[in-house]
Amino acid sequence: MKILAISGSLRSQSTNSALLRAITKLAPSEMEITTYEELGELPHFSPDIDGDNSPQVVRRYREALNNSDGVLICTPEYAHGIPGVLKNSLDWVVGSGEYVNKPVMALSASPSYMGGDKAHASLMQTLKVMNVTVVEPASFCVTLARKKMNDQEELVDAKTKETFQKAFSEFSKVIHSSMRTRAED
Ligand SMILES: Cc1cc2nc3c(=O)[nH]c(=O)nc-3n(C[C@H](O)[C@H](O)[C@H](O)COP(=O)(O)O)c2cc1C
Repeated sequence: MKILAISGSLRSQSTNSALLRAITKLAPSEMEITTYEELGELPHFSPDIDGDNSPQVVRRYREALNNSDGVLICTPEYAHGIPGVLKNSLDWVVGSGEYVNKPVMALSASPSYMGGDKAHASLMQTLKVMNVTVVEPASFCVTLARKKMNDQEELVDAKTKETFQKAFSEFSKVIHSSMRTRAED
């Protein structure tokens, strides 16, 4: 199964991007995880530049979503919300619907003990209104995220490792069910 991983941070030393790389190492072998690298290249969404002549980067983004069986998002919190670049990427597909019924594992990670809880709540609200299949048992905040990884970007906290193994198992179940539904349609 193909998973598209999206970090909500463009920062080179991003904790969220590092966490995505760390948890990729724990994912079941059936998951082929590809990182989406063009979040920062998407233009600001405007219906005026969408349609038959929409930018190539937007077409590639939509194709990447269409080709994925599930999406894994990990976002920081900026001013109690999600970063503008991540919201912009979601706005691009509200109308075109690539996220509709797509199984999504939605995480927020922060070096703080709050784990980006308000960004997570905001992300969940946006995904739900877009009719995304949010996999709730696999969607949560990761507190003190830097301390849970070593310099090799491996999870070192046993409880967090176990949490992610269970989360991936729930994510996988929902993706299998969604793939069966798609095959029957
Ligand atoms: C512009 C900006 C706004 C932020 N706002 C919040 C916030 O509202 N709540 C919070 O817990 N952390 C906030 N932070 C801290 C970030 O969540 C933290 O630096 C996090 O590591 C950023 O994610 P990244 O490491 O993946 O880039 C903010 C950071 C920046 C740069």
